[in-house]
Amino acid sequence: VNFASDNNAGICPEVLEAIVAEAPEVDAAYGWDRASARLERVLVEVFEHDVWCLPVITGTAANSLALAATNPVWGAVSCHELAHIVVDECGAVTVAGSGLSLDPLPGEHGRLTAQTLDRRLRTRRDSGVHTPAATGLSLTQATEAGTVYRPDEVAALAAVAHERDMVVHMDGARFANAVATIGATPAELTWRAGVDVLCLGATKGGALGAEVVVGFDRRRLRDDPERLRKRMGHLLSKQRFASAQLVAWLAEGTWLRHARHANAMAASLAEALVAQGVHPIHPVEANMVWVHLESSAVERARRLGASFYVESEHDDGTQEARLVTSWATTSDEVDSLVRALSQA
Ligand SMILES: Cc1ncc(COP(=O)(O)O)c(C=O)c1O
Repeated sequence: VNFASDNNAGICPEVLEAIVAEAPEVDAAYGWDRASARLERVLVEVFEHDVWCLPVITGTAANSLALAATNPVWGAVSCHELAHIVVDECGAVTVAGSGLSLDPLPGEHGRLTAQTLDRRLRTRRDSGVHTPAATGLSLTQATEAGTVYRPDEVAALAAVAHERDMVVHMDGARFANAVATIGATPAELTWRAGVDVLCLGATKGGALGAEVVVGFDRRRLRDDPERLRKRMGHLLSKQRFASAQLVAWLAEGTWLRHARHANAMAASLAEALVAQGVHPIHPVEANMVWVHLESSAVERARRLGASFYVESEHDDGTQEARLVTSWATTSDEVDSLVRALSQA
């Protein structure tokens, strides 16, 4: 049973059907196609706001493009120390942003607080031209720890950033899971709370490979995002297939239905583990369960067929295991994992 990543799941039927339906069509290249025009209309409807949007096919490209387009090259982006942009993108933000730097901050359960951000911005060393200027804030929703930010938490963080004219970016690789948990509207979790640019990820939610940078305020742009995307090598000639995936995923609440399922699987996994005396390290608020396991138990569970990542090892011989559910996870798979872990 595979709980390594929601990226390990396949393509959901709705997205696959959309790709198949688009396949025999002939349409313009480089984003001048009907599916891409439809995507913009769908995003306006979903977010209840005018948007600029650029589809890409990886989350790394989306984050790098969004941050490079909205920060100066001499800027610094505050983010959580576990943020994907810091630990899992191999410096892509700095490459796309021509030197743009990151300022990682601590925070319990993968979340930043307005207090931590405010303190950091007030006390960080600032030697004028010698120091990168604090120009951006990046929040991950849902977080790398599988927790979520409520709209008031996003708003408090965004207020601190906006006070200093910093742009607010949201890495929404699992935005769908956060919306499904919180029950707020996509608007309430983004522009209404002060988010200027969102990277909305569909890949983990059932797409083949489709992410879209969604901007809510063109005045926040410091550079031409279309030119930057081309320079990054992420302008797809057959963009219509990325757009068609996103349109199908967003249509009729499909994205939220799949996210609700993934979240429910994580909740039932957590419940079963608690019943065995294994308590999650972080609150389970999306599609991820983190637990401490002894290294020997990790080995045994793997031999019993359970696949999952361990992220860090502690001095006491325990490891932090990350168990991720997806739109495709079944209750039987959850039961098998719990069995493997309890035997281990
Ligand atoms: C929080 C977060 N952001 C972004 C991404 C997207 O990364 P990728 O470039 O692998 O699509 C991921 C994928 O693991 C992620 O977990």
